[in-house]
Amino acid sequence: MKKYALVLAAGKGTRMRTEMPKCAFPILKKPMISYIVENIEKSSIDEICVIVGHKKDVIEEILGDRVTYAIQSQQLGTGHAVLSAAPQLADKEGVTFILPGDMPLMEYPLMDKLMRSHEEMGNDLTVVTMSMDYPKGYGRIVRNEYGIVTGIVEENDCNEAQKLIKEVNSSVYIVNNKLLFEYVKKIQKNDRKGEYYLTDIVNLMHQEHKVNTFMVRNPMVTMGINDLFGISVAEKYLRESINKGHMLSGVSIVNPETVTIGHNVIIEEAVWIYPNTTIMGNSVIKKGAIIGPNTEIVDSVIHEKAEIRHSIVLDSIVHENTTVGPFAHLRNHAEIGKNNRIGNFVEVKKSTTGEGTKAAHLIYLGDATIGKNVNFGCGSVTVNYDGVKKHQTVIGDDVFVGCNVNLVAPVTVGDRVFIAAGSTVTQDIPKGAMAIARNRQINKEDYAKHFIKPKEDK
Ligand code: UD1
Ligand code: CA
Repeated sequence: MKKYALVLAAGKGTRMRTEMPKCAFPILKKPMISYIVENIEKSSIDEICVIVGHKKDVIEEILGDRVTYAIQSQQLGTGHAVLSAAPQLADKEGVTFILPGDMPLMEYPLMDKLMRSHEEMGNDLTVVTMSMDYPKGYGRIVRNEYGIVTGIVEENDCNEAQKLIKEVNSSVYIVNNKLLFEYVKKIQKNDRKGEYYLTDIVNLMHQEHKVNTFMVRNPMVTMGINDLFGISVAEKYLRESINKGHMLSGVSIVNPETVTIGHNVIIEEAVWIYPNTTIMGNSVIKKGAIIGPNTEIVDSVIHEKAEIRHSIVLDSIVHENTTVGPFAHLRNHAEIGKNNRIGNFVEVKKSTTGEGTKAAHLIYLGDATIGKNVNFGCGSVTVNYDGVKKHQTVIGDDVFVGCNVNLVAPVTVGDRVFIAAGSTVTQDIPKGAMAIARNRQINKEDYAKHFIKPKEDK
């Protein structure tokens, strides 16, 4: 039996009070809709159709051609949204898994479990429900005297008794595809709101077809996000569950409530993460690395036993046993070799270093290819920008760069070169040379008195 997913993402998300369409809003820096689509891709579902409408370009830009799209040009409700997928789906045999685009926390094993249950029970429609102590805002599940589900009533259409019902609609449905499109056509406009409610399908189908519910145990995973407070609740839940997953697989996280790790980050065992640390994007942290405190890492790879403290690492690679920080900034494809030391107030941009190199204090390295065992004195700088273009600096192995040296690029420094402190290097330096490029010192005897008041005799 073919399985289809239909994701409803055409709504405005008025309650969010943001410009961005709700389903594109990020949680841990990743759009809500991406969580949903990634999980569907991992499940047993064969095809994904996303219903878009309001600011559809934004959603299409995020998902690209991973999914097919159906367009709901006017937002006339969830029932109407499903109907707009009729041209693609209506005549197909199979089962359709309907998901709202504002429910990012459901993971694929649960999706598969729900579909298996639907099949095993022989249902035509399964409504996924949850029990909420505070059900405000959700549609209530209404049952007859035999306990059979007969309808869903939206909060604003509830009578006082219905308002007390704790079992609510998650907006996830598993339904025989042909029946779905047969019945969704029959939905009438809700008088109060002027919208076509998908929830009405329960009432329309239950007399002639097998309609059942499946109550999920953890209502957090089926939480619908409608406003920015909901975003923060989901973000907290996701952060805690990601951190817990890492801790259970051997990562030590100190003060985990201050540590944020993105959904796609890979962390190997025996890693330590200290407080106030954020690791996002497609970062990989290898065995035994030490990260934090106060560190931000995005889209970077930190190799075995490297240590990154009080620092920022963006789009970069740090190799084994290297220490970075405190207060270092690696960015734009910096690649730091093994056993390096990148210390206080050092910025490295689009540069590579060989094994054993040290840049310990107040240094800028940009657009440079640096060899092994190079030692940068305090304050040395690659002068890579002439106001118009960026230029390359190439430094060989075993080079000693004295304090406050300017390497004006383009410039090449050979192996085993020694550059005297304070030099402004504008020409290439051959292998083995010592370079000194500064004015000689002059001492003017007895001249300081013009600047310094003589000490008064007591
Ligand atoms: C919906 C359900 C409610 C359920 C709740 C669970 C209806 C009428 N109500 O309410 O029973 O308890 O979800 O979270 O279905 N959308 C469109 N086109 C539209 C309208 C909405 O694509 O014309 C999309 C939205 O982008 C959103 C999803 O459908 O992703 C749900 O819409 P939303 O307005 O959030 O529904 P709720 O009021 O939360
Ligand atoms: Ca919602």
